[in-house]
Amino acid sequence: MHLVTLSAAPETPPPTYVPRALGTTLTELAGLFPVVYLTGPRQSGTTTLARNVLPGFRFIDLEEMLAREEALDDPRRFLRRIADGAEGVVLDEAQRA
Ligand SMILES: Nc1ncnc2c1ncn2[C@@H]1O[C@H](COP(=O)(O)OP(=O)(O)OP(=O)(O)O)[C@@H](O)[C@H]1O
Ligand SMILES: [Mg+2]
Repeated sequence: MHLVTLSAAPETPPPTYVPRALGTTLTELAGLFPVVYLTGPRQSGTTTLARNVLPGFRFIDLEEMLAREEALDDPRRFLRRIADGAEGVVLDEAQRA
């Protein structure tokens, strides 16, 4: 009998966060404006930056199918729902919807 077992790779700890110069500016702008647009090349650290400098914000990833479908289906209801009770919201991959 031949047995093949598959298992996930051992958890690797997340890399230590290196503070970015833009962090303070992003926090300030998020407190001043209703919407702040953060963009950058692929893998440049936009998600990590937002997660680290806006820790109280609700994080929604529009790469996730269910969130994207809801946003496309009824944008107003989606925005109302994600804003409800949140200090702020990060919409990651916002270009997807
Ligand atoms: N400030 C940082 N300190 C340490 N590691 C970082 C930092 N910013 C990004 N990284 C690492 O770089 C990689 C890319 O980061 P991240 O996913 O945040 O980039 P992104 O711009 O959101 O990428 P994508 O284009 O896939 O959306 C990740 O492995 C992340 O852990
Ligand atoms: Mg990202």
